[in-house]
Amino acid sequence: MKTILTGIRANSELTLGNYLGALLPMVRLANKYSDEMNVNIFVPDLHSIISNVDGDLQYNIVRTIRYYLAAGLKVNEHVHIYRQSYVPAHSELCWILNCVATMGEASRMTQYKEKSEGRESCNVGIFDYPILMAADILLYSAEYVPIGEDQFQHIELARNLAMRFNHRFNEEIFTVPAKTSEQVKFMGLSDGIRIRDLLNPEKKMSKSTASENSKIMLDDEPAKAAKKIMSATTDSLGKIKFDMFNQPGVSNLLLIDALVTNTPLQDVISTWVGETRYGDLKQKVASDVSNMLTEFQASLANITDNEVLDLFAKGEEYANRVANAKLLEAQKAFGLR
Ligand code: TYM
Repeated sequence: MKTILTGIRANSELTLGNYLGALLPMVRLANKYSDEMNVNIFVPDLHSIISNVDGDLQYNIVRTIRYYLAAGLKVNEHVHIYRQSYVPAHSELCWILNCVATMGEASRMTQYKEKSEGRESCNVGIFDYPILMAADILLYSAEYVPIGEDQFQHIELARNLAMRFNHRFNEEIFTVPAKTSEQVKFMGLSDGIRIRDLLNPEKKMSKSTASENSKIMLDDEPAKAAKKIMSATTDSLGKIKFDMFNQPGVSNLLLIDALVTNTPLQDVISTWVGETRYGDLKQKVASDVSNMLTEFQASLANITDNEVLDLFAKGEEYANRVANAKLLEAQKAFGLR
């Protein structure tokens, strides 16, 4: 049985970018494929500690899974939910892969360059982050890894490490995850998703941006979120068109609306193309986002922590079993066992 796998760090409240770029696509794929594929959803808590955690990490971890459930995730016997640090094989395989990856390829990771800003005082975890991510994926032989566009480079790294490892030992120990172009197709998209900063649409929407109006958080009051959409930066071209290069603000709004309403982007574009009133587009997106948040927050209130803790208990038993078996193969290949 094939495996779909993804994780979202639990450092802080999530943004609409996390929700639309990773969480919601995973929920839709899980509900579509969980009869025929394994669906692994885990909280990369070890990845969370590479930077400051806002609030209580334990609370954030449970909340992340409550979010999946509030977004409509249906759990059956093929859906496995677990915490990374409760499956020690992740750290073990990370070490083994550290001895396969090169300094050069790890140094080329854009996220590492952005997060470290060239500081020598940056922690080694930031550097090693994509190698641990590769271990997260390879331990479970995951083929599909639904993620936002900013993580594509890390998928390519995981593919390269799997191929190099297999080649070195002349054995198909690791399943090579699908290419990013195939990942995008599997998600039913033509491009990776990158939700932009509302005020500065050249950049991606990010938790770490200081300005409140740049980002929508999942716990924002729906009316407040609507206001943020109404004050989003657009342009002075005066014609609605989907063109992320020349009109990133307007294109971002079209993309957000397509994802929030689960409508093909092409259909949303056809509805608006050639229109001139940006205010009308903003009104529509503001209302759709605010309805989505209202519904999401109401479902969230009905999901208890205990429900999540029960899922962790079952999922971690499964995850340890699968991960330990794959780890043993890697250990044997190197002569460690
Ligand atoms: P994290 O927590 O930084 O991001 C979680 C997910 O949210 C997506 N994302 C976005 N998508 C679209 N537009 C945005 N503005 C936006 N901002 C964030 C990210 O692409 C990501 O999919 N390294 C992963 C966590 C991880 C992981 C893994 C994922 C660790 N191990 C193994 C998959 C498989 C990350 O960046 O999380």
